[in-house]
Amino acid sequence: MIQRPKGTKDILPSESYKWQYIEKTAADLFENFGLKEIRVPVFENTELFLRGVGETTDVVQKEMYTFEDKGGRSITLRPEGTAGVVRSYIESGMASMPSPIKLWYAMSIYRYENVQKGRQREFHQIGVEVLGTQSYQADVEVILMGQKFFEALKIPRIKLMLNSIGCPTCRAKYQEALRNFIRPNLEKYCDTCKTRFEKNPMRILDCKEEACKKMNQGAPIILDYLCEECKEHFENVKKRLTQLGVDYEIDSSIVRGLDYYTKTVFEFVSEDEGYTVLGGGRYDGLVKELGGQDTPAVGFATGVERILEIYEKYNQENMVKSRKMDLYLATMGEEADLEATKLALALRDKGIFVEQDVAQRSLKAQFKYADKKKAKFVLTIGEEEVKQKRAKLKNMESGEECEVSFDTESIFEKIK
Ligand code: HAM
Repeated sequence: MIQRPKGTKDILPSESYKWQYIEKTAADLFENFGLKEIRVPVFENTELFLRGVGETTDVVQKEMYTFEDKGGRSITLRPEGTAGVVRSYIESGMASMPSPIKLWYAMSIYRYENVQKGRQREFHQIGVEVLGTQSYQADVEVILMGQKFFEALKIPRIKLMLNSIGCPTCRAKYQEALRNFIRPNLEKYCDTCKTRFEKNPMRILDCKEEACKKMNQGAPIILDYLCEECKEHFENVKKRLTQLGVDYEIDSSIVRGLDYYTKTVFEFVSEDEGYTVLGGGRYDGLVKELGGQDTPAVGFATGVERILEIYEKYNQENMVKSRKMDLYLATMGEEADLEATKLALALRDKGIFVEQDVAQRSLKAQFKYADKKKAKFVLTIGEEEVKQKRAKLKNMESGEECEVSFDTESIFEKIK
């Protein structure tokens, strides 16, 4: 038997309605904030991610699904959504449309990761990107979207963790201070950390190796190195969140795994699961880096698999339900079958969930099927019923039966 690749999951019919619910909740919420949906390709030219995500990141160094296509181009399955969205923003000329441009998306993401709980190789993100404003209010609005999303899904115990990683100017000073702190022990750090020392020492703070983590204790923190502008921006974000009653914790260890971030970075962490369910921040340099005009931007993405797990845990009682069949049309004979098809089409036009037999089964087998699929009503139609224009309608929950006139309106009235 051919099995699915490691790190992937099928979203089966017994689950897919929950996905639809989460995606619809996101669409409704984000569109109330003025966002429009964007869909971008699953694969992009590899260079986009090298330049966008950053060559020293884990994502680029270890996790990309990269291959050469038959035309000899280097192609990569998207390891995150922001770079593709920004590429599309530039390529489609969105910059000339009324600013800021506000987008949301739901997409599959591919990372060659160590598979474990909450960590897959194909997973799904729902994200938002707001492009064209450097104001702190945009950061706050994006954070509010995240908070409201969890609220809409009735997911409690999510903590907002906040940090600022400054701009290239203040970061240069900080990185120098960080190198000075690390240098005396550099030989004892792991190989990955060593390779990051020159180009991206902040990533060393994110290393999961115990020895490295220990040596990182007492390292200088970026918040002490912010320039005036970055400091003011961060103060404004914090002040406005406080004014709005949004709880947050400052966590100076949040550096994020992608290189494009500037100023505000944030994560929503599940207090129960212990993992990050949403991550994002400002990325004021990315549009320019990818060939567009200098355009500040901010956004986030949330992992749908992780959200679903927590959603299920907290919503056992009021879990969204898979749609139930309203009516099953049990038929005997060609003519009844034809009339049932016409009736089913007319009722479906009215929004009713109707099935009829398409397997030429016995009446008994049809009833068995309707019962197993938990149909609310069954209408039995034979040659005689077609002639008389009346048929028997059975309420499958109560067992009650009644005769109904064999026309769309009468049946609709009985079962709606
Ligand atoms: P990220 O932090 O790499 O950010 O991913 C966002 C979310 O995706 C994480 O918080 C987590 O919930 C989920 N996630 C990440 N890796 C996995 C995995 N292997 N399996 C399951 N879920 C996972 C980004 O991707 C940025 N593009 C977010 C962003 C948008 N920043 C600005 N705009």
